Amino acid sequence: MNDLKAVESHFKFGENWSSYSNLIDEDRIENSVKGLQKLLGDGGVSGKSFLDIGCGSGLHSFAALLLGAKEIVATDLDADSVATTEKVLAKHGANKPYRVMQVSVFDLPDKLQQTFDVVYSWGVLHHTGAMVEAISKAAAMVSPNGLFAFALYRKTPYCGLWRAEKKWYSKASLRQQEIARAIYVMLFRLGCFVTGRRFKQYVAEYKKMRGMEFLHDVHDWLGGYPYESISPPQVDQLLRQLGFSLERRFVRSGLMSVLGSGCDEYAYKKIAHDT
Ligand SMILES: C[S@@+](CC[C@H](N)C(=O)[O-])C[C@H]1O[C@@H](n2cnc3c(N)ncnc32)[C@H](O)[C@@H]1O
Repeated sequence: MNDLKAVESHFKFGENWSSYSNLIDEDRIENSVKGLQKLLGDGGVSGKSFLDIGCGSGLHSFAALLLGAKEIVATDLDADSVATTEKVLAKHGANKPYRVMQVSVFDLPDKLQQTFDVVYSWGVLHHTGAMVEAISKAAAMVSPNGLFAFALYRKTPYCGLWRAEKKWYSKASLRQQEIARAIYVMLFRLGCFVTGRRFKQYVAEYKKMRGMEFLHDVHDWLGGYPYESISPPQVDQLLRQLGFSLERRFVRSGLMSVLGSGCDEYAYKKIAHDT
């Protein structure tokens, strides 16, 4: 087994989600619902089965429950993410049908033996240690005519630098991480100043992005290792080879910032073949 696929070589994503989950309130839930609606489109998730791969805090599985999913399976490799998702779902949506499982995307086809109307994997497959294989394992979980909705980091000239930084940060001491975050935030503030954006307003409005929180996302960005990235044309080529057609995508335009590219979002439909 490739060592990068093992949880021991990963950033402690689950610890960050556990801390973030204490901030989940009505506002964040509403923004997560909006984010899901935007990506899934009119077909939505109502009455459909929903697989969340790399569920993190569980917030987006909960949003799918609110939007009327008939069955939810939330999965993650990290035990802390799984425990946090269980806690979040129990706290907010106890009487709905859901399962939370600790399983790697690489083992899903063998473990679950079923496919889903909607497979959702936001900001996950580039952190698995083998992104292309992870995309194809996740794609295999989609039912014919089903939707595969995911987000991946955009490839930029700075990716090699960030991969090295993340490898270091994910194993650094808490103090070193704290210093790295302070430097990053300072540079980010400077970037806002130079480009005429208001840092405080940006941070205050950050939750509009799927209910997320700026400082937890800084920690996740600086530490998110393993790290890979991909361009929209590469995604399209791969998904077409896997038998999907593009439904919609939200990709960034313009120059990529040296401080981070952010994720492009994609929704692809699995083409059903007549037998
Ligand atoms: C950046 S977080 C995204 C969480 C969530 N999808 C969201 O949008 O808030 C990435 C998540 O992917 C999980 N992950 C990493 N490798 C994985 C794998 N091989 N299988 C399943 N989940 C994995 C991490 O543990 C982490 O919870």
